[in-house]
Amino acid sequence: MNEQPKIRGAPGDTLCCILSHSVLAPSPLNTQPWAVTTRGDHTLDLFLETTRLLPHIDPTSRQACISCGAFIENLDIAAREVGLRTDIALFPSTWPGAIISPDQPVAEIEFTHDSGIAVDPLFSWIKVRHTNRRIFTKELIPSEVLSALAEASDEPYTTFGFSADSTFRQELVELITRATEITLTDGNRFSEIVSYVRILRTSGNTYPDGYGTRDIGLHGIHGWLLYLPLRVVPERLKNDYAGGLLVRLVRKQAESAAAWGWIATKGNSRHDQVRAGRAYERVHLTAASVGLSLQPMTHILESYQGMEEVYGRFLNLIGIPDTHTVQVLFRLGYSDPETRRARRPVKDLFRSMH
Ligand SMILES: Cc1cc2nc3c(=O)[nH]c(=O)nc-3n(C[C@H](O)[C@H](O)[C@H](O)COP(=O)(O)O)c2cc1C
Repeated sequence: MNEQPKIRGAPGDTLCCILSHSVLAPSPLNTQPWAVTTRGDHTLDLFLETTRLLPHIDPTSRQACISCGAFIENLDIAAREVGLRTDIALFPSTWPGAIISPDQPVAEIEFTHDSGIAVDPLFSWIKVRHTNRRIFTKELIPSEVLSALAEASDEPYTTFGFSADSTFRQELVELITRATEITLTDGNRFSEIVSYVRILRTSGNTYPDGYGTRDIGLHGIHGWLLYLPLRVVPERLKNDYAGGLLVRLVRKQAESAAAWGWIATKGNSRHDQVRAGRAYERVHLTAASVGLSLQPMTHILESYQGMEEVYGRFLNLIGIPDTHTVQVLFRLGYSDPETRRARRPVKDLFRSMH
């Protein structure tokens, strides 16, 4: 039998090193909704941190579960790097339903030393991968690059699709713009998005989560123009102004996509969502490894009131039956890199058992 590793939570030890890579996973609005506990010397449990969920933007916690999948993928890749095999059981305690209790593990991960474990070339890209919200250049994506993305993951029950067709791209711009308008017309959703925008990211005032106006593509004066109405003028006016600015920005981002990719699952169970997150992270890491920029644009995938028709047209466009669920949709293209978003310190992930 293989010798078992001892995992602990002290800075500098193997587990913290692995988790410092997991925490670089993507999450909706950079909420990082993860918590972990250790059991014995070699078992880690991953939980959803319910205080970090987005009840309005992600009402079913689907996106949070996707981000758990991305966290697990990074964890597995980083564990291989130090000669550890992971055995991962999703939702080991009970079949998850509509509400995931904070005490229900999303995954139980057991680490075992394995001298024969293959390292993953995507490891080097974990620290490089980031969501890029810049306007992309007009450069086309070679078909072999799109094929590499399609082969990035063999996660069961998930499929990867993409299109670079120009008519397809034009139609999707209209749908994405309309989906953003629908998303922002709801005051609660709007406030939730704005609550994670950190304006003053200067030294001495760094946030470990969320993102800056620069991170959503509003550079210089536009960042301040968004900031000022949000802070100064009456509620309705500022929402109209900032909402209009965001819709125009999203449209420009969508218009500059050289191609679109999506990850779909046949069902929409919690297991499907976590698996889709693992696949998505592999696709994004692979994109980073070939110098391709990627931005998820996912509002259209949420069942907000008024979204049904737009989502139906989207499924028609990509040719997927409505029995399937598109878990992540993203634009692809080329652009300069952006600076990486902040992350919570690894020690904040650990929680004591209730
Ligand atoms: C399920 C999911 C949905 C997301 N949806 C969007 C989106 O609609 N628009 C967007 O700009 N970024 C989206 N993102 C990207 C996150 O905002 C991003 O991962 C987070 O801010 C952390 O930044 P990073 O990816 O650069 O590390 C999404 C990420 C996940 C995991």
